[in-house]
Parts: sequence; structure tokens; C-alpha cells
Amino acid sequence: MRISVTVNGRLHHLDVRPERTLLELLREDLGLTGTKHGCDSGECGACTVLLDGKPVNSCLTLALAARDREVTTIEGLSEGEALHPLQQAFVDHSALQCGFCGSGMLLTAKALLDENPSPTREEVRRALAGTLCRCTGYVPIVDAVMDAANRLRETP
Ligand code: FES
Ligand code: FES
Repeated sequence: MRISVTVNGRLHHLDVRPERTLLELLREDLGLTGTKHGCDSGECGACTVLLDGKPVNSCLTLALAARDREVTTIEGLSEGEALHPLQQAFVDHSALQCGFCGSGMLLTAKALLDENPSPTREEVRRALAGTLCRCTGYVPIVDAVMDAANRLRETP
């Protein structure tokens, strides 16, 4: 089946089999390997992307569900060479170690801050609860999201 889907602002026309997942489409058809392939069962959140601005597990989302919709992956978060304030805050707080959870964390955090620019630490923790990190203990990640929220609020 032929579908049209916008990924990181760019329109693609692609032939997809009905059982193909959005994760496979992104990584294998479009080469966007920043979206990670973890558990394949909706448990780890490493495959999270934004579909029309909302976080979804791309391993559990059929590619057909993205038809005529807008997908944002980690490759679409920065603006050219300039890191998104969330990415910069993650760097500044050493909020990533192995980095495997990073794209899912950052995109989930972006969706949160788009909806709620002034979250509490508890709201950040709850929003990120579906994304597992085996390395950091989560504290620097929450620090980074709170810091990014401040930076984004101060940006005119
Ligand atoms: S790979 Fe999709 S939730 Fe783990
Ligand atoms: S930095 Fe390794 S899983 Fe989060």
C-alpha cells in the first residue's frame, strides 16, 4: 500500500506492507536509526517518536497509522547544527551515559514541555515513566528537563 507521511518536516511517499511497523519504516526504509529498537513489546520506550506531536511507541505502531500524519524523530529535534534546548540541557547535566534511552527520553520530554511548559518534578517523572534508563538513575534526566523548561520559558 502506498502512503504519504511527513517525517521531520519532509514529505515521503512510500510503499508499505500492512504488518510493517513505524519503527521498521523509520529505521530501515528512511535510515533514521536514532530511533532505537529495544524490547519490541512496548516496555522500554526506546523507540518513542512523536506522531502529530504525541509520543508513541513506534514498535507497536503500524506504519499505516502514520499515513497523512506528521512524525518527529530525534533527527528532527535540532535545528541544523543548533541543539534543541532539551538536548543542550541533557549535555549540560550529563543526563545520558550509554545514550540508548536518549531519543525516547528527549522526544517524550519535548511532548511534555509543548503541552505543559512549567511542569513540576513529579510531572516530569510521571511523563518519563514509560521510558527506561539503565544507566543514570533518572535524577540528572529530571534535572535536565526542569532546566530546559526554564530555558524555553526564557526564550522570547
Ligand atoms: S522497542 Fe518499543 S517500547 Fe521497547
Ligand atoms: S543512558 Fe543508558 S539507558 Fe539511559
